[in-house]
Amino acid sequence: MRSHYCGQVNESFLEQTVTLNGWVDRRRDHGGVIFVDLRDREGIVQVVFQPAQEALFKQAEQLRNEFVITITGQVRFRPEGMVNTKINSGKIEVVVSSLDILNRSEPLPFSVNEYSNVNEETRLKYRYLDLRRPEMYAKFQLRAQVVQAIRHYFDERGFLDIETPILTKPTPEGARDYLVPSRTHEGHFFALPQSPQLFKQLLMMSGMDRYYQIVRCFRDEDLRADRQPEFTQIDVETSFLQEHDIQDLMEELVRDLFAQFIDVQLPAVFQKLTYAEAISKYGIDRPDLRIPLELVDIADLVSDVEFRVFSEPAKDNKGRVIALRLPNGCNLLSRKEIDDYASFVALYGAKGLAYIKVNDLAAGMEGLQSPILKFFPEAVIKAILQRVNAQTGDMVFFGADKAKIVNESMAALRVKMGQDLNLYTQDWAVCWVIDFPMFEQDDSGHYHSLHHPFTAPKCDDVATLKQDPVQQLAKAYDMVLNGIELGGGSIRINQTLMQQAVFDILGISEEEASMKFGFLLEALKYGCPPHGGIAFGLDRLVMMMTGSQSIRDVIAFPKTQSASCPLTQAPSLVNDGQLRELYIQSMKKTK
Ligand code: AMO
Ligand code: AMP
Repeated sequence: MRSHYCGQVNESFLEQTVTLNGWVDRRRDHGGVIFVDLRDREGIVQVVFQPAQEALFKQAEQLRNEFVITITGQVRFRPEGMVNTKINSGKIEVVVSSLDILNRSEPLPFSVNEYSNVNEETRLKYRYLDLRRPEMYAKFQLRAQVVQAIRHYFDERGFLDIETPILTKPTPEGARDYLVPSRTHEGHFFALPQSPQLFKQLLMMSGMDRYYQIVRCFRDEDLRADRQPEFTQIDVETSFLQEHDIQDLMEELVRDLFAQFIDVQLPAVFQKLTYAEAISKYGIDRPDLRIPLELVDIADLVSDVEFRVFSEPAKDNKGRVIALRLPNGCNLLSRKEIDDYASFVALYGAKGLAYIKVNDLAAGMEGLQSPILKFFPEAVIKAILQRVNAQTGDMVFFGADKAKIVNESMAALRVKMGQDLNLYTQDWAVCWVIDFPMFEQDDSGHYHSLHHPFTAPKCDDVATLKQDPVQQLAKAYDMVLNGIELGGGSIRINQTLMQQAVFDILGISEEEASMKFGFLLEALKYGCPPHGGIAFGLDRLVMMMTGSQSIRDVIAFPKTQSASCPLTQAPSLVNDGQLRELYIQSMKKTK
């Protein structure tokens, strides 16, 4: 039906006859001539209907936005002054000799070329229209090409693409499971996998040696711009490789993709940051290293001051007191903006945002301005300013509270000021975060895995691990790009005793372990090789490569923030018969 795509036709086609299909992007009537911007996935071309051809012209008068048509015509130069340098076909137009209207369209709920003021709910309800936008095509084209390149990369290196079950047992990755009732086993449920973690480990035990899969994962968790209930992982597992081998493999992949598709040269070696350093300097384990601000501990300087807001957390071993210097902050921020930042950190539980304005460093206390100066001896203020290397014009902010609150609030403030004040020193900053603790302990004394319970500790013996679990580090690593966790993985436990010890520390009884993970514990007995791997979030990777604000922009049919689909209205109620068949009784009253 077509000889070319609209967007391909340019001056090299001069005098040629082409047949094009597409949608009417816009119709303009100009002094007896009708111009139509004809659009398909490759772009737009201007087609012209001349009044001399009366029947054709009458037909063209019926055209409205988003009608689907096919035309045949001859390519000619546009008249001078009508050239559009922004599009490939901008120098030419097609003079139509035949037109076929293949389908009509009612007026759209929103215009395909002026979408920006349409809310996301509406865009998702009419996602098929939203996807007609050329920007969206470009994103999905890139996504498809990236996936192809990833497959090529792993195929070349001897990795096997192996599918793992979707109907399975729960795989703990820290979220809630999506459950699927079984019709054939009364009261029993499958879980959709939060990741293929256990199956990829079993594949190593099968001797597959190198596995990868581009695989859908399901997590019922609170959603954000970079989280969806179903998303895609680039999932990798290998046998007999060390942490650095796996890191090198993934670094090279990311470097190749960025160079090939977006012409970005990432560093030849990615920086490595320990978890402890990351928390200390940035308050978070996925620091945005484009922003040059750092948290600086000052607890030792303020533990004896009369201002209890600072001295109490300074003396508490779960507390933290930090200073954050904003260079030139006195000139960057108004009083109102400072107040807004105080309200911002309050969202993270901070009780205030103390600050010192360094108007003139040389003038001593006279040169400083701050609501908290009166609570501090001069020597303390001096020591603080010295430690953060404050200069005239700078502002120094303070956070004092439980470490968790200080870390979360100041990490968020750092990122917000980076964005608001455009403090970025580079476009891309990538790093590995390594040396994660094996466990964190909650207020009730329970231990939780920082990664998942199959991650190997750095110590080799069970006794050391059990002696002081919170002090033990894991053979785990995350790749972080511009403050977003792209991927994470680890070397796995391959000894039954160690796996049992970890379950034990996590408070998983022998009985529970055997019920949930008995198959894994059993498999570990029969010659399990040392193995490890990683998983990347494909959606996040493509989001970043396409400069999108949310992973929803690179998923064709995503869910909303409340995990529903405005297009299909899923999830939906089911009838009583279906429920009975599944042995389920719903507590929700149908309206
Ligand atoms: P983890 O849970 O860190 O590790 O997940 C790996 C990567 O998957 C992406 N990701 C998500 N993307 C979108 N929406 C979500 N809800 C979501 N959750 C995670 C992130 C993340 O870095 N089995 C382990 C990996 C391993 O140890 O090999 C795992 O799943 O980019
Ligand atoms: P107050 O004495 O409560 O008025 O606080 C004096 C200053 O300290 C104000 O600028 C508060 O915003 C700030 N402040 C109060 N609590 C904290 C805190 N936990 N961390 C940092 N600054 C605080």
